[in-house]
Amino acid sequence: MNDVDRAIQILRDGGLVSFPTETVYGLGADATSASAVRKIFQAKGRPATNPLIVHIADSTAARRYAPEWPTSAEKLAARLWPGPIALIVKKTPEIVDEATAGLPTVALRAPDHPLAQALLRKFDGALAAPSANRSTGISPTTAEHVRQQLGEKVDLILDGGPCHVGIESTVLDLTATPPRILRPGGIDRQTIESIIGPVDLPEAIDDESQPATSPGQQAVHYAPKTPSFRFDRNDSQHMANHFQKSGGQLVAILPSDSPLLGLSAKVLILIQMPAEPEAYARRLYAALHEADARNADSIWIELPPDTPAWHAVRDRIRRATREAAGLF
Ligand code: TXA
Ligand code: MG
Repeated sequence: MNDVDRAIQILRDGGLVSFPTETVYGLGADATSASAVRKIFQAKGRPATNPLIVHIADSTAARRYAPEWPTSAEKLAARLWPGPIALIVKKTPEIVDEATAGLPTVALRAPDHPLAQALLRKFDGALAAPSANRSTGISPTTAEHVRQQLGEKVDLILDGGPCHVGIESTVLDLTATPPRILRPGGIDRQTIESIIGPVDLPEAIDDESQPATSPGQQAVHYAPKTPSFRFDRNDSQHMANHFQKSGGQLVAILPSDSPLLGLSAKVLILIQMPAEPEAYARRLYAALHEADARNADSIWIELPPDTPAWHAVRDRIRRATREAAGLF
């Protein structure tokens, strides 16, 4: 029996299969089975109040689970699926309430990866799948990342190589007027607006892990275990001084044009990142996994420029780190 057939059997029996997508690896279960979906929350240690993305092969399959399929959904699906955008629409009762945290809506996405597509077509159904990491951990972009975090908690891991987008999908709420981007991701605002017109993008993305007060104090989500900080290029001089003075081992994650790359300090491990947003995104989570594995005292990430092209990457860096400014 090949891997996809084994995966189908496990899913039909209510088990968990991790599968690759173009964004990150997912932890999948049958979205029409409450007991199967509950296993996802248990394996991740994820609060049951956080709804999951439900994967389908294409827009024909999506319509089976959406009592209304708005024109905007059809236009976006026609242009962007399979691809890194999840569309929130009303759900049919077939998608269990456990998958949507009791919400009457569901986030549907057709992933752009040959293994995920083979799995979904053969399963001929809907797979609830959050990122296949522990609830507070770094999202996985390789099968090895999944193994490290979830190991025996999943019945099968399908290995499809490294994910080529590297950060999670854009989540777009089509039940809001105008439609609202709830999570920036693989598809940017401009692309969405060129297809369906104006959408809302909240200025400061709602991020429960980052109350603006008391920098350096609050718990950080989706983060390395090593204390992790972000800084702006404007703070390079401060950072250089800080690195030179440091007694402990530090990891610095820097774009390839960072002024700090020339710095040599015994305590410093440098991870060089691409200067271009798509390539940077593809590399981000692997860099965080690598940095964390060094067991250093702290990790320092230089934020890329505050421009639309970097919006999703900056969002993920903010969620993984605390603000460094104010610590010196
Ligand atoms: O790229 C991705 O989307 C990956 C891969 C595996 O497809 N999946 C993923 O799923 O990131 P997850 O469960 O980690 O993220 C789901 C996001 C959360 O921010 C959740 O709050 C939001 O989508 N979400 C899901 N359903 C929703 C709903 N009905 N209403 C509002 N937000 C929803
Ligand atoms: Mg996640």
